[in-house]
Formats: sequence, structure tokens, C-alpha cells
Amino acid sequence: MKSHALVPRSASFRPETLGQNAVQLIGNLCFSLFVLGVLAFTIIAATYQPEDPLLHPSTKLSSFLTSTSNATFRSDDSAAHTGDDFLSPNSTSDSSAAITLSHINSSTKTSQVAVDSAAAVGDEATDSSTSAVCADGPIDCTDTEVFHSMMRAAIEMFRNIHFYRFGKPARGGEDGKSCDMAWRFRPEEAKRAGFYKDYRRFDIVRYANCTYSVVKVGEYHSGINARKKRKTTQGGDFKAKDAADSLSGMVLPVIGEAVNDTLPVVESESKFSSGKYLIYTGGGDRCKSMNHYLWSFLCALGEAQYLNRTLVMDLSICLNSMYSSSNQDEEGKDFRFYFDFEHLRDSASVLDQLQFWEDWSKWQKKNKLRLYLVEDFKITPLKLAEVKDSLIMRKFGTVEPDNYWYRVCEGETESVILRPWNLIWKSRRLMDIVASIASRLNWDYDAVHVVRGEKAKNTQLWPNLAADTSPDALLSGIRNKIDDGRNLYVATDEPDTTFFDPLKERYTTHFLNDFRDLWDENSEWYLETMKLNNGVPVEFDGYMRVEVDTEVSLRAKKHIETFNDLTNDCKDGINTCRKAS
Ligand SMILES: *[C@@H]1O[C@H](CO)[C@@H](O)[C@H](O)[C@H]1NC(C)=O
Ligand SMILES: *[C@@H]1O[C@H](CO)[C@@H](O)[C@H](O)[C@H]1NC(C)=O
Ligand SMILES: *[C@@H]1O[C@H](CO)[C@@H](O)[C@H](O)[C@H]1NC(C)=O
Ligand SMILES: *[C@@H]1O[C@H](CO)[C@@H](O)[C@H](O)[C@H]1NC(C)=O
Ligand SMILES: *[C@@H]1O[C@H](CO)[C@@H](O)[C@H](O)[C@H]1NC(C)=O
Ligand SMILES: *[C@@H]1O[C@H](CO)[C@@H](O)[C@H](O)[C@H]1NC(C)=O
Repeated sequence: MKSHALVPRSASFRPETLGQNAVQLIGNLCFSLFVLGVLAFTIIAATYQPEDPLLHPSTKLSSFLTSTSNATFRSDDSAAHTGDDFLSPNSTSDSSAAITLSHINSSTKTSQVAVDSAAAVGDEATDSSTSAVCADGPIDCTDTEVFHSMMRAAIEMFRNIHFYRFGKPARGGEDGKSCDMAWRFRPEEAKRAGFYKDYRRFDIVRYANCTYSVVKVGEYHSGINARKKRKTTQGGDFKAKDAADSLSGMVLPVIGEAVNDTLPVVESESKFSSGKYLIYTGGGDRCKSMNHYLWSFLCALGEAQYLNRTLVMDLSICLNSMYSSSNQDEEGKDFRFYFDFEHLRDSASVLDQLQFWEDWSKWQKKNKLRLYLVEDFKITPLKLAEVKDSLIMRKFGTVEPDNYWYRVCEGETESVILRPWNLIWKSRRLMDIVASIASRLNWDYDAVHVVRGEKAKNTQLWPNLAADTSPDALLSGIRNKIDDGRNLYVATDEPDTTFFDPLKERYTTHFLNDFRDLWDENSEWYLETMKLNNGVPVEFDGYMRVEVDTEVSLRAKKHIETFNDLTNDCKDGINTCRKAS
């Protein structure tokens, strides 16, 4: 699966090889799979059901979230919902903007495509569309004819995506026989909001009669010379962002763009000293589930926004043992491993606490900056609105559950502090792994989510789960929903993927571990997260696995869930099924 040959689309993906790789990998991975299995993290609840409030536009969202605000968090090992889940996929369905073959066939429109794209995704530097000189030597990637054949090849080859903009091609390999080109796309029937960026290498031949033909298109993100670092944006200023990220005022993620999530710095002493800050310290939230973390963090962020203060945050997260391979809570994880800090930094006022305390100790005395300490969560944000001191510090005690940060946002506060979900998106580095997997499957696959693990063993709470997710039951459960011969992505916490071998009779199966090259030592993810982590390699942990597995499933054309679809057992154990609305 190194590259796609430019032949009709079905041939660009070779299921047989993947199947073999899978078998090989399973052998190699037996031990690590076993370890993971013992952990029994459950891959979860990619709840794609029509009645799910999470699929409704954000207006309905707040009422849904408010209603759960008092819930104590079950030890829930699912992927936490984030703001990007709540963006309506419709917000990106501006189909009139998609570029089609007919645009490219008509030369006037083509130059329009090119001009648009130069501003958007491509390399702006070169703009000398020389007329074709039919000579030997390297292919001139700036030639319009070359550009046209590349665009045409891309549109013909990738039938399951819509193209939005093409970037001007850049030089490809050293041999002068290839060009790199970037484009923005979204899958045909997008289930999630946002755009994706791809850039690939095109091998090109030039015929004696001066025409060009694309003979091969490289794999996802192979066209590294067409990759461009985004222009930097000023914090908090949406308008500075590329207009296409935002339709009708809504800012949308662009997966596959380079990430710049460096920590914000305060420019000057006077800026720092005139600032107003809020910090939360202590409390019992640390090392809880990711859902709990977000619920608490968003309360703090909501309060900071309400008070017009900068939130001083701790970017170091503790990963709960249910997601760690050591089976222990693990300190020292970076917020940026899991969430999109660039988006947060650019849309809200936040500072990292290490930087903050450094500046504070430098300038506090000199500028008489005052600290206002709050030790009782029952002191509401409303009561703090009048406080003029530079820093409000909420200190939380040692007795659970009164020391949870989210207690601040309960009661009368609930109607005042709105948790700013729109500020929290999933890590785009993780989402890029999701997009890589979906691209390898040509954005044309179905998915089944099979929860087994500890739940299948617990017949008290889940009496039918084990039987209902056995290979035979699975086969009969999905055979009239998913056509024979399809690519089937199996998201599961079942460590032994050979367990699913019977599915191979009908489907080409794929598992997360088939794609482990996307996070192994040679991957971009590995190098980038290592850089964030002061040069220490970062483990692709259980939470990341659940996250990626869930998101890949959600992008499938057809998606079958364990609960509701395969079994009548309830997700959280016997008699816990939510009433269908
Ligand atoms: C929320 O929790 C508090 C304290 O645990 C309780 O007194 C209150 O009734 C709960 N509210 C709702 C709506 O369940
Ligand atoms: C989204 O689009 C679908 C079909 O295009 C339509 O049925 C649905 O009402 C739209 N939803 C929203 C929230 O606009
Ligand atoms: C575009 O032109 C090609 C030949 O150059 C032709 O095969 C194709 O049908 C045309 N497509 C459209 C939509 O006009
Ligand atoms: C140019 O040559 C190629 C290969 O010989 C051929 O396929 C193509 O049709 C020719 N194009 C024109 C416009 O003559
Ligand atoms: C990353 O973003 C920050 C803040 O917007 C900016 O100061 C910095 O120059 C950017 N770095 C790169 C490499 O673009
Ligand atoms: C925060 O700023 C907004 C707009 O500047 C203002 O309307 C609001 O009263 C301020 N809130 C507080 C708590 O100071």
C-alpha cells in the first residue's frame, strides 16, 4: 500500500495486501494486545443514533449538557465528547463550492480555481505559468497543462471526496518527474463538520506531442513540497483566519493542516501587570476520566470568560489508569496530546501556569499585583464579578466530591456560566491519524463497533453481550446491513483480533493496529508529540486508541453499534437503557 496506481479507483486500494499485513501484525502484536486486553479498556459509544442529542445543532446541546451536569461520572472509558462533535456537518455542505471536472475542462474557470487556491492552500511563491515548452529536462510543475492533468487525475481517482480548493503544484522528487499538489476536501457524505487537507506526489510523463499524463498518485500526505505552513494568526482574532475555515461565522477545523500549538507568551511587563487572571488549584479532579476532566476544565474556562479574565491553566494532565498501559494513573501528559490547543489559544484567553508563575514572581511585588483567594466553591462567579485584584485563585480542598472543580458551576451558576464547548476540539494530530486511515480505505468503508472486554465477561450486568457479539452472531447481525465484499473497519476492545476471522468470509476487515505505522517511530505523530514532550517519546495510549477508533468508525458510510444494533443489553449495564425519545 505504498501508493496508488492511476487506474480506475477500485484498484487503488488493495484489500488482499492489507489482510495479509493484518495477519502478520496480529502475530507480532500478540503480546502487546494481550497487555491491552488485560487492561480491558472499552472502546466506546460512538453513539451515532438519530435520537442522540449530540447530533443535534448546538441549540439543543446546552439543554442536554445541563441535564447531565449533576451526574457523577461513572468510570466511563469512552472518548469524551468535544465541541467539534457538536458542529453540524451541514455547515460544510456547501456543495456549490466543490470543484468538478467540468470546472477544469473549461479553461477560464480553471484559472479561477488556480487563483483561489494559491491564496488558500498552495505555495504562493511561483506564479509563472509558462506555456508548454516541449523539451527534455525536469517537468515544469508550474505549467498550466501539468496543473490541469493533476487536478483531473485527482478528481477522477478519489471519487468519494469533494474537492474544495487546489493549491498550485510544487516541484516533487529530485528526478524532476513528479510534482506535489495540495487540496482541501471533505468526504462525500460527511458525517462530521470540518475540512481536510491532503497533499500528494504525482508522477508525470510527458509525451512527444507535448501532452502530460499522470501515471501514479502517491499516498496520503506524500506531497510534502506542497505542504505549506499556515499563516500565523493573532490570538483571538477569527477574521485573520482563512475565510473558508469559517462559513456563516462558524470556525471549523481543518484536519491535515500543520499544527502550531506553541504556548502563548505575555508580550510585556505592562501587558502582564494590567491583565486579570483566574486560576484553579488543587481538588479531586486529577486523574479522573477524560469526561470528568473536560467537565471540570470547561467550568473553569466558562468562569474565566464570564469574569473576563485570562484562565491560567495547567497543561499537564494526569491520565487515568483505565487508559494507561501501566494500569496506573500517569502524570505528565500534555493537554496537546488530546486536544487542539491551537484552537483554544486562538479563540480564548489562556496562559500556561508555568509561564504565568514565572512572570508573576518577577513583577508581582514591583507592580503591587494582588491575589484574591477563594476556598469555598459555594462562592459563585457572580459574587466574584466585582473583584478587582489581578489574580483570583480558587483553591479546592481534599474531600471529594466537594473538591471537584465543576461544583463551582452547579446550582444558580448553571444558568449563568455556559460551558464553552466550542473551544475544545480533539487534537488535530490524532484526527490526522483518523484521516490517514479513512484515506487508505478510500473514504469508502463501513464500520462495526464491537464492545466486549470486561463487559462481555460480566454476565450480571450484560447477560447477552458475549453471545450477541460472538463471530456468528456478528455475521448474521450485520449481513443484511452491510454488503458482501465491503471494507469493514472493526472498532473493538477485543484484544485478539483473530476472534473476528469468520467475518473475513464476507468482508475485508481492518483493525486499528493494522495502521500502527501512523504512530510508530517513523510517523509524523511520533516526531511531533516527542517534540512537545521535550524530546521524550510519547506512548500512543489507551485514550488515544479509543479516540481514533471511535472517530474512524464515525466516518464510515454505514456504522453499526454494539448497543441497540447488535444487542439489547444496555450500554451501562442491566436496566440502564436510556429511553428512546
Ligand atoms: C445536584 O446535586 C446536589 C448535591 O449533590 C443535590 O442536592 C441536587 O438535588 C442535585 N440536583 C439535581 C437536579 O439532581
Ligand atoms: C442537514 O441537511 C439535511 C439534508 O441535506 C437536512 O435534512 C437537515 O435538515 C439539515 N440539518 C440542519 C440542521 O440544517
Ligand atoms: C472533461 O474532459 C475530458 C477529456 O479531456 C472528458 O473525458 C470529460 O468527459 C470531460 N468532463 C466534463 C464534466 O466535461
Ligand atoms: C499525445 O500522445 C499520447 C501518447 O502517445 C496520446 O495518448 C495522446 O492522445 C496524444 N495527444 C494528442 C493531443 O495528440
Ligand atoms: C506559532 O504561533 C505563535 C502564536 O500565534 C506565533 O507567535 C509563532 O510565530 C508561530 N510559529 C510558527 C512556526 O509559525
Ligand atoms: C465582561 O465584559 C463584557 C463586555 O466587555 C461586559 O459586558 C461584562 O459586564 C463583563 N463582565 C464582568 C463580570 O466584568
